[in-house]
Amino acid sequence: MTSLLLTGIGSLVTNDPARGGLLGEVRDAALVIEGSTIAWVGSRLEAPAADGAIDVGGRAVIPGFVDSHAHLVFAGDRAEEFAARMTGTPYSAGGIRTTVAATRQATDEQLTANVARLVTEMRRQGTTTVEIKSGYGLTVSDEARALEIAGQFTEETTYLGAHVVPAEYADDPSGYVSLVTGPMLEAVVGHAKWLDVFVERGAFDEDQGRAILEAGLARGLGARVHANQLGEGPGVQLACSVGAAAADHCTYLTDADVDALASSGVVAGLLPAIEFSTRSPYPNARRLIDAGVTVALATDCNPGSGYSSSMPFCIALAVREMHMTPDEALWSATAGGAASLRRTDVGHLTPGAQANLTVLEAPTHLHLSYRPGVPLISQTYMAGRMG
Ligand code: NIG
Ligand code: FE
Repeated sequence: MTSLLLTGIGSLVTNDPARGGLLGEVRDAALVIEGSTIAWVGSRLEAPAADGAIDVGGRAVIPGFVDSHAHLVFAGDRAEEFAARMTGTPYSAGGIRTTVAATRQATDEQLTANVARLVTEMRRQGTTTVEIKSGYGLTVSDEARALEIAGQFTEETTYLGAHVVPAEYADDPSGYVSLVTGPMLEAVVGHAKWLDVFVERGAFDEDQGRAILEAGLARGLGARVHANQLGEGPGVQLACSVGAAAADHCTYLTDADVDALASSGVVAGLLPAIEFSTRSPYPNARRLIDAGVTVALATDCNPGSGYSSSMPFCIALAVREMHMTPDEALWSATAGGAASLRRTDVGHLTPGAQANLTVLEAPTHLHLSYRPGVPLISQTYMAGRMG
């Protein structure tokens, strides 16, 4: 196995609590990659020899971003819907059906190419782990193919047959829940690690959501919930009561929701690109962090409610609009995302972790929010390989 020394690191974010501070930052640092993992981390002056060496010239190095929420298997876009929103038409879950119609008509090759394009886009912005959901097929075969395609790009695949009730089941929503918990679930087992449900007015109610989550858990899928996006509702507390890994969106929270998140340990996924692009109020991350809730930041990249694939954009919004410090925002975009996906091998740079890291075109990670909109990703390594 060949080893590579990265040296001349002005600021290294390890997320290792043993190194102190939230980010376990090491100044004037070096690290050694062996094969696909991190073998050594420390001060530049103490670095061991390796087969090769790269001096990053004082740049900052951070863990690759872990984007724990994205919808990438779809066809077409909804740019006109976005334009209408900007002149006052509110976002509603109904737009999902537009993308469902386009996705059903697309070929496997078209859908695969779209995912490849977006994963590449993400990678260029420093993301090295991404969760990918189905949810624009909503038939047994279309959901199964979406998850097979997602699985070509990530192990973090999520079955979202319960995105909305498709038009052909408009008069029979319970029939659709039976499909989602029965034949559709059976068709995706083996291709999905997670099951997600959109608990919202216009999508699925609490009882339907519980039935769907429990069916997935019984078949060995982990649970995730789209919760409290468009208004207060039962989503967050449902996620907590079934032991979901994540309750994502959390745009509208009651005190009881915050308490439930804190006591259950369910990760709150905050998705500020969605508030940006739907003109909704941003959730107050400070309220969650102060209550002891683990917060993940993710893009929720999708053609409807928000079409950004950029974790740096989310970090900048989190700092400017959600009362997170730059350190907290970076932690949530890396270690927080890993917690949301229940991964211990990514989201930090300590010996034994996957060598997923990003070299910034900046001396410290503060520049991610200090210089919003500027492409600051110099290099990304994934499993030890640059590219
Ligand atoms: O996470 N809220 C549900 N699903 C997506 C939006 C999907 C769409 O509008 O196409 C979301 O925001
Ligand atoms: Fe989503």
